[in-house]
Amino acid sequence: MKSVTCTAPVNIAVIKYWGKADEKLIIPLNDSLSVTLNSDELRAKTTITLSEDFTRDQIWLNGKEESIDNPRLQSCLAEIRKRAEAEHKSLPKGCVQIVSENNFPTAAGLASSAAGYACLVFALSKLYAVSGDISAVARQGSGSACRSVLGGFVRWVAGTEPSGADSRAVQVAPAAHWPDLRCLILVVSHDRKKVASTSGMQRTVQTSDLMRARLEHSVPARLAAITDAILRRDFAAFAELTMRDSNQLHAVCQDTYPPVRYMNDVSHALVDTVHEYNARRGGVRACYTFDAGPNACVYLPEAEVAPFLAVVAAVCPPPVLADWVTGRPVQLPPLPEGEVWEQLFPGGVQSVIHTTVGDGPRLLEAAE
Ligand code: DP6
Repeated sequence: MKSVTCTAPVNIAVIKYWGKADEKLIIPLNDSLSVTLNSDELRAKTTITLSEDFTRDQIWLNGKEESIDNPRLQSCLAEIRKRAEAEHKSLPKGCVQIVSENNFPTAAGLASSAAGYACLVFALSKLYAVSGDISAVARQGSGSACRSVLGGFVRWVAGTEPSGADSRAVQVAPAAHWPDLRCLILVVSHDRKKVASTSGMQRTVQTSDLMRARLEHSVPARLAAITDAILRRDFAAFAELTMRDSNQLHAVCQDTYPPVRYMNDVSHALVDTVHEYNARRGGVRACYTFDAGPNACVYLPEAEVAPFLAVVAAVCPPPVLADWVTGRPVQLPPLPEGEVWEQLFPGGVQSVIHTTVGDGPRLLEAAE
């Protein structure tokens, strides 16, 4: 019997992955770039036990047993076992029991599958002592999981090989490169998303004309510019590119036929609030990005966290302020004298998670 326990972080893309060149291997149509968040606040945690006493592989997700016959799960298990056998000339006997849990809402557009599959594949690689890049394996669980196997600022290179062997993650800069950068997850809804990203992006690729312009022009130019902005720690440039790319993702979703809608009225109010905040404070102080759900991810310098949240609390006042923000502590200041913000959606932002840029997966425990 052997067992490992690992954690893996969430990542939130600033240049989005949307659309596949190969559905089965999960090869994307474009490179994407993300920020890995700190696992102290947001993480998947997975324990895998290998034993000869187990007669079949099994998985439990957030306390509930799920089918192990999920093809993506099977791809990850088969690929790691294949690599282990090639590397060690034999495979340890027995089956696995996988127990995984997230400490954040599952499937609310909060990159739960990314952290989950990155954690699963990282833990399997420790259990079976597999070396080398594992991002191309995590990718076969969920595309965005590829980026959660590394910390800091991460690019998922689409690659050119039909096998997907070079469709993997590379680090652009480590977490410590930009210590001043903070992230706020503004949780608008805990509900499961109506259209899963897998089917949403499929429909976009099949029906959206705007998608072509995104792939040919916008994404390549933005990737080059945002890499440069990250390396120079140029927040204003980083922020504008991030907001433009999020807006374009949701524009191609709108151009999809029938359209796919992930943002809701609260999300749009938050977009307006960020732009208004930047205009009133005289510079680009905060930026937003939205994935396949209504929750906002706001990147901003540390000094802006408290003043910005005071504005969000004015626009979307929480019923109770205590415990509204979790994660890193923050004290909300009063709004600047004479500044008035229209109250739009009381309770619209249910909770806030305050976190930083973080490192990749961690091995917490290994026992024989
Ligand atoms: C909007 O990785 O969830 O979050 O590969 O089909 O599992 P599959 O999709 P998934 O898509 C994520 C889409 C996104 C953008 C991003 O993370 O880059």
